[in-house]
Amino acid sequence: MTIRTRFTELIGCEVPIQLAPMGGVSTPELAAAVCGAGGLGMLAASADHLAADVDAVLAAVAGRPFGVNFLMPFFDRGLLETVAHRVRLVEWFWGEPDPALIAVAHDAGALAAWQVGSRDEAVAAADAGCDVIVAQGIEAGGHVRGAIGLLPLLDAVLGAVRVPVVAAGGIGTGRGVAAVLAAGASAARIGTRLAATRESGAHPDYKQALVSADGDGTVLTDTFGVWWPDAPHRVLRSAVNAAHALDDEQAGEVGDAGQPFPIPRFAVVPPDRATRGHIDAMALYAGQSVAAVTAITPAAEVIREVAAQAEQLLSERGSRW
Ligand SMILES: Cc1cc2nc3c(=O)[nH]c(=O)nc-3n(C[C@H](O)[C@H](O)[C@H](O)COP(=O)(O)O)c2cc1C
Repeated sequence: MTIRTRFTELIGCEVPIQLAPMGGVSTPELAAAVCGAGGLGMLAASADHLAADVDAVLAAVAGRPFGVNFLMPFFDRGLLETVAHRVRLVEWFWGEPDPALIAVAHDAGALAAWQVGSRDEAVAAADAGCDVIVAQGIEAGGHVRGAIGLLPLLDAVLGAVRVPVVAAGGIGTGRGVAAVLAAGASAARIGTRLAATRESGAHPDYKQALVSADGDGTVLTDTFGVWWPDAPHRVLRSAVNAAHALDDEQAGEVGDAGQPFPIPRFAVVPPDRATRGHIDAMALYAGQSVAAVTAITPAAEVIREVAAQAEQLLSERGSRW
């Protein structure tokens, strides 16, 4: 892709697409595949073994930039200090942007970002020293911070801050990427579409449910609040219905067969490769971008296809809109 943006220049990547960090779904393999295709791979600190995962991506991507993401309700400062000097971008989600944390990232030589859901939160993130802001619309899969759709949010955030803005929520095709770049975003963040790839850690039945779902098959809910209450999230509607219909307070278990860890009904964790049980009744996070998921493909193919379509659309349009 030849679309250079403030994001690609600042981060040092080739394609203005960021992998959304997605708990155990965004495996080191997925992050490395996105980096290999020129995008910005991300790891989520909510996954176990973050330091080992950083090692794995570093070994696989040979100098290409990638980042780590921390969810504030589960934030571990020790983990931040362990990994910050080894990544290009440290990012946070949920909670007040904190200048002291951003300083830790900067002192370690990393850039800092915060995913936000409102104009005010974007201003707070910029004032706190963030180099990049991720604006998340309510179309997004996973936990949803704000209350408005991506385009009005983007409009408000771009008018209020000067740092590069990444657009997130409901983007799964080149059309979506082209639209947010044309609107002034410096990159697009893609979650759901990349959850349905070969390298993703999502349980195979979860990936298949993403393939089967239509664009209107998601719902913003607080159903899966066990271990993280009062935090709205977007999931497949089928998962909400299946969880309510479940005649069992345990949805399943995760981990080694010898030492399984029970997963209660309505638990926040999405099912990964090591999960067993009622997969259909677990937190199957999905954005409205699920409409773009039609097959389980290698992640690099998704990045290449989406980037090429965006580039073509933007160049075709040129000056004739
Ligand atoms: C399975 C899943 C897990 C997610 N986990 C996280 C997370 O750990 N941290 C975070 O900042 N955002 C998380 N998100 C939200 C994404 O950062 C992003 O806003 C969203 O995926 C964008 O919408 P899309 O899924 O339509 O592409 C998650 C999203 C999904 C689908």
